[in-house]
Amino acid sequence: MIKSRIDIERIQIREHVESDLAAYHEWQSDPAIASFVSWLPKTFAESEADLRDAIAQQHAKQRSKYFFAVVDMCSNEIVGEVGFTVIKEGVGDCGWFILKRFWGRGFATQAAQLMIAVAFAQAGLQRLEASCVHQNIASKRVMEKCGFRCVAQDEKRLRYALSKDWWNQGHLLNSIGVRG
Ligand SMILES: CC(C)(COP(=O)(O)OP(=O)(O)OC[C@H]1O[C@@H](n2cnc3c(N)ncnc32)[C@H](O)[C@@H]1OP(=O)(O)O)[C@@H](O)C(=O)NCCC(=O)NCCS
Repeated sequence: MIKSRIDIERIQIREHVESDLAAYHEWQSDPAIASFVSWLPKTFAESEADLRDAIAQQHAKQRSKYFFAVVDMCSNEIVGEVGFTVIKEGVGDCGWFILKRFWGRGFATQAAQLMIAVAFAQAGLQRLEASCVHQNIASKRVMEKCGFRCVAQDEKRLRYALSKDWWNQGHLLNSIGVRG
């Protein structure tokens, strides 16, 4: 069972609810986000189906998708989404999406850190993978700041990974300048 809400400083990630639909479709149809993500933009009907699926997954016997609304606690607005799909036992493929008007304010980095904690401490994963096109500097920085290491690249994409052991050893905290 995933803890339903996790907060850090000024944001929280939480399970999606039906009333997220307007905000959910806003990021799924945002052309700025779609310019970096091959499977976007989505129509309203497609967003509605995706959100329904994300909610249904919360109660699935063998949950494979963990996607969360990212909420700015100051305004209570949904600013984007983070999450991961379990692609094989113990391994998740993760991603982050922040509406363009909120870019550059640290939301993705903080939300990704919370998502990593869910993946390793609650969902039982041992490894997270992520990738982006070379020109996606912001996503590359999110991965680096969260402790991911580049494990492969081709002419199109950079591929990163973060193991639970690496995360446990405190490299994540060191990478963002936090000391115990
Ligand atoms: C990638 C994304 C989620 C980053 O969101 P964000 O909330 O702006 O990220 P942060 O504010 O946490 O910034 C993370 C780093 O990226 C940098 N950054 C943010 N926007 C940037 C931009 N447009 N160009 C270059 N660097 C940028 C920040 O300066 C920061 O790096 P720094 O600490 O070295 O200064 C957002 O740009 C987005 O939604 N992009 C489209 C979707 C996407 O590409 N998702 C990933 C799919 S692989």
